[in-house]
Amino acid sequence: MADVLVTLRDGRQCSLDAADGELLMEVLRNGEAGVDGTCGGACSCGTCHVYIADEWAARLPAKSEDEAMMLEALADFVELKPTSRLACQIPLTAEFKGIAVTIAPQVE
Ligand code: FES
Repeated sequence: MADVLVTLRDGRQCSLDAADGELLMEVLRNGEAGVDGTCGGACSCGTCHVYIADEWAARLPAKSEDEAMMLEALADFVELKPTSRLACQIPLTAEFKGIAVTIAPQVE
C-alpha cells in the first residue's frame, strides 16, 4: 500500500512513499505534488495547505494554536474546509500510512 494517496490540483492522483515519521509536507514537496513548504514547517507560509480525506481527518492530532491561526489567515484567499490542515504539522507515523489528501488551491 502506498504511504500517501494524493489528489493533485488538476485532479490527477498519485501515490507517494514516506519514511517513518517524515512530515506530510516533505513527502508532498519531494514528490513534486505542488506543495512548496516555503517556511520549512514553521507554520508561517500556508503553502502546505491540504484537505485531508474525511475518514482520516478525525484520526489526526488536533491543530496547534499556530496551525489554526495560519489556516485562519488563509481563509481570505482560499477555501477552507473542516478537514483543512497544514501538511507540515503532520508527521507520518505508522498509524497514518495510507492517508489520502487533496492539495488545496494555490494562494495567488
Ligand atoms: S510549510 Fe509553511 S506553513 Fe507548512
